[in-house]
Amino acid sequence: MWIDLFVDGGTRSTSASLFTQIRDAIADGRLTAGDRLPPSRTLAAELGVARSTVAAVYARLVAEGFLDGRAGNGTFVTAGPEPSSGAPGHASRPATHSNATFVSPMPTEHDAPPVLVDLSTGRPDPRLFPVVDWRRCVTAAAAGVPPGYGDPAGLPELRRTIASWVSRSRGVIATSAHVLVTSGAQQAFDLVASTFLARGAVVAIEDPGYPQARRAFERHGARLAPVPVDHDGMVVDAIPRDADAVYVTPSHQSPTGVTMSGARRRALLARAAELDLLVIEDDYDTEFRYVDRPLEPLQRLDRSGRVVYVGTFSKTLSPSLRLGFVVTDAARIDRLCATRSVVDAQPPHITQAALAELIARGGFDRHLRRGRRRYQPRHALVARLLQSLHDDGLVPVPWRSNAGLHSMLELAPGTDAELVVERLRRRGVVVQSTGDWSIEADLPALLIGFALAEPAHLELALTAIRDELSLLRG
Ligand SMILES: Cc1ncc(COP(=O)(O)O)c(C=O)c1O
Repeated sequence: MWIDLFVDGGTRSTSASLFTQIRDAIADGRLTAGDRLPPSRTLAAELGVARSTVAAVYARLVAEGFLDGRAGNGTFVTAGPEPSSGAPGHASRPATHSNATFVSPMPTEHDAPPVLVDLSTGRPDPRLFPVVDWRRCVTAAAAGVPPGYGDPAGLPELRRTIASWVSRSRGVIATSAHVLVTSGAQQAFDLVASTFLARGAVVAIEDPGYPQARRAFERHGARLAPVPVDHDGMVVDAIPRDADAVYVTPSHQSPTGVTMSGARRRALLARAAELDLLVIEDDYDTEFRYVDRPLEPLQRLDRSGRVVYVGTFSKTLSPSLRLGFVVTDAARIDRLCATRSVVDAQPPHITQAALAELIARGGFDRHLRRGRRRYQPRHALVARLLQSLHDDGLVPVPWRSNAGLHSMLELAPGTDAELVVERLRRRGVVVQSTGDWSIEADLPALLIGFALAEPAHLELALTAIRDELSLLRG
């Protein structure tokens, strides 16, 4: 069965109009699961539009779960988008866009470009969220809501579960007494800064480096000392002698994506001992590692108890859960609890209890395995496409990234990264530059997030990037 489509002569773009017509036909049952769509070439010829327009509309419907496109087999209507619109991470999305390769609704003004590929970073693929397991865990947690306040360090079961999971998976040395459950890594940075850093304390940070951590330190009166990053991670010899603390992302440097080498980790700890620094280790993006084995965290290598280890569930489950944690010695945990008790008392009981259950029952490990399987080919594809841009002389040597949900594309020196971002936006590709990550670093670059985009869309986006860079080169 097929439906009549028309090309909108009104204010909407052709792709917006076709997208809406097909989606509505599925929603109201005129097209049902298993119906085959005409090949894009045929439909384009019938409608008198470019084949790429139809292909982009199909790609979007596939990405949003309405269609299933298997190479060579045709494009079929699915049983409907996966029921993830109620899952964390979707709250701010319009219902029809819950499956999220595309960030915004189709435009209402004819000159606003549709968003075809979303290369944003910072969140995992919401379609992977383990809805069924999570629902079961939340139901169990809701049955046992305690009447009063809980422990400011977090729910005892969750502290225990995190301690054993982080020891098993990362080699972090921890018992539950060493764990503080936080509202994401961001609260950890905030609590650490307000508890351990005097006003005017000097914090050495990677440049480029994670802007939100930097802001948390600054908010508590810290002075920032930008330290350059090379292909082995932070250049630790450049940490100034007056530093009091250092903040690093060794597993997947934000934004370059490099893993801090073993030698550099040891050098960092030696420098920290020499200068008596507090080391804040942000071990985000460590769970999805594709190429080799993870290196030991600083927390494990350290013999002097100077590391405050920060983890998050934002990159694995969803940033909307607001769950992260600190691992450090029990005395520091007590001091953090004293601060925490006047900030928000404790993390919400139900999400903590549900997460403890999810980890303890093996649902979290299952979820990570599934995520790795999903992201690994995307990571490899992006690495290959970035290398080909370099091989064609369009960009410098790619930064090696073995883990996480994004890779960085450094642009030729002097390239206006914001201009590239804007030109790509006009082509329907949403991408971020690393401008906000830099303090002094002069490193024009784009962040190629691959959590939200399927391989076919990544190829489309990288082709658009290649075109724009070729045009700019002239
Ligand atoms: C470097 C880095 N650390 C930590 C986080 C996680 O932050 P949170 O746990 O507050 O969501 C992010 C998220 O984007 C990040 O990029």
